[in-house]
Amino acid sequence: MSDLRPAAVIVLAAGEGTRMKSSIPKVLHTIGGRSLVGHAVRAARGVQPQHLAVVVRHERDQVAPHVLGLDAAVVIADQDAVKGTGRAVECGLEALPADLAGTVVVTMGDTPLLTAETLLGLVRAHEDAGGAVTLVASTPPDPTGYGRVVRDAEGGVQAIVEQKDASPEQLALREVNSGIYAFEAALLREALAEVGTDNAQGEKYLTDVVAIARGRGRPVHAHLVADLWQTEGVNDKVQLARLGAELNRRTVEAAMRAGAIVVDPATTWLDADVTIGRDTVVHPGTQIHGASTIGSDCVIGPDTTLTDVEVGDGASVVRTQAELAVVGPGATVGPFSFLRPGTRLGAGGKIGGFVETKNAVIGDGAKVPHLTYCGDAMIGAGANIGAGTIFANYDGVTKGRTEVGAHAFVGSNSVVVAPRTIGAGAYVAAGSAVVSDVAPGQLGVTRAQQRNVDGWVARRRAGTASDTAAREASADPAAVDPQSTDTEGGTR
Ligand code: UD1
Ligand code: CA
Repeated sequence: MSDLRPAAVIVLAAGEGTRMKSSIPKVLHTIGGRSLVGHAVRAARGVQPQHLAVVVRHERDQVAPHVLGLDAAVVIADQDAVKGTGRAVECGLEALPADLAGTVVVTMGDTPLLTAETLLGLVRAHEDAGGAVTLVASTPPDPTGYGRVVRDAEGGVQAIVEQKDASPEQLALREVNSGIYAFEAALLREALAEVGTDNAQGEKYLTDVVAIARGRGRPVHAHLVADLWQTEGVNDKVQLARLGAELNRRTVEAAMRAGAIVVDPATTWLDADVTIGRDTVVHPGTQIHGASTIGSDCVIGPDTTLTDVEVGDGASVVRTQAELAVVGPGATVGPFSFLRPGTRLGAGGKIGGFVETKNAVIGDGAKVPHLTYCGDAMIGAGANIGAGTIFANYDGVTKGRTEVGAHAFVGSNSVVVAPRTIGAGAYVAAGSAVVSDVAPGQLGVTRAQQRNVDGWVARRRAGTASDTAAREASADPAAVDPQSTDTEGGTR
């Protein structure tokens, strides 16, 4: 493969993308969790070129840092005020060494399904045929919008004519230019110098290089790619969604081939970088984004959205929204849980229904089972946080941290006012407002003493159903409970 390394790949990403009708630059729109230009750079890098240039102009201040953030080795080439794909390639070449020789591949920043394998196939076909220009062609059912490939009587590629410049006969041609090419560097440089802007759009067309090469008697070939998706460009938001759906279909299929069980591929959305282990079941309505990694034998979903989440083997995450979180092996999350950034749930731990966590490290086997807000907390292994506990981490000015030691037990409906420490093995009685630390082994209780007022219902609610029920019940002496006692009042 090393002998196939092209001298350079130039990715064109300077165009305005007016048809997108968007304030976001076209090539920064995303599908599968990656920008359009990100897909293009990744495919280009996959052929291991000696140089990789991305040509920018429109919204350069957004596009250039984005590209460098993805791949710091990219050469950013600035296109000047002259418009057109031909000028873009010229500017790309100017940013590369002047003595660049060999094969130069040109791709488009708006063609996200193109793969490195297809580019390698192009380079191989170009070099095998000893071509000066080899363009990737395809025959989509509807060629509208694309440049048409015009062939001579012998079937040789003669020229490419843009939609806006084509005659009615040319518009009827089905074979189109995909905007992906391999060029001999010297020919490309010389031909571009001859390209003018005398066309319907007043632009310097890269496609004119084809006719110039032919005019010089140099070999021009078309390399047909049958997979039409790989050559489809995004020009508007309808195409963005179309290609996004197809990319997802491919990603989900690859996940299944790698061993994941996807119950409903149609409602499962996986970003391109997501990995899922064997025999993990993904239920309908699940979206897994970013750099998420899911272990094997997990249950994910239904109706779950995970972004940059790491899930260990055998864990289950049901009807949950989570971001920048780690779920340990064998842990259970959900249903109806909200894991915000910095949540780390240990092995075999539990985050249950209607629980919100943020910046919370929850130890192995620890449980936060119901109706809790757990923010800025460190919870030791095996601890149990009762239903309705609130970690009051914000006093209106600053955020405070709460530490709960291993095997501690916080009774239901408690509020722990941070910064606070509850020691290992300590208990907090249900309904407490914890405003001072509880040492290991202590019971913290802040409840008011309970007072039962005898005969109150008989006096103040006489004749009501409650009164009747109480009179019937007080025949039983056990119904009269003199004074409550301290209990932990936990839930399981
Ligand atoms: C181009 C081709 C057309 C082909 C189609 C395939 C030309 C003249 N036409 O048309 O034959 O069928 O792609 O999708 O090449 N760009 C720049 N600088 C510019 C203009 C464009 O970098 O001045 C970049 C854009 O950012 C984009 C790519 O080139 O990534 C294609 O530009 P676009 O305007 O979409 O070209 P098409 O009209 O689609
Ligand atoms: Ca295009």
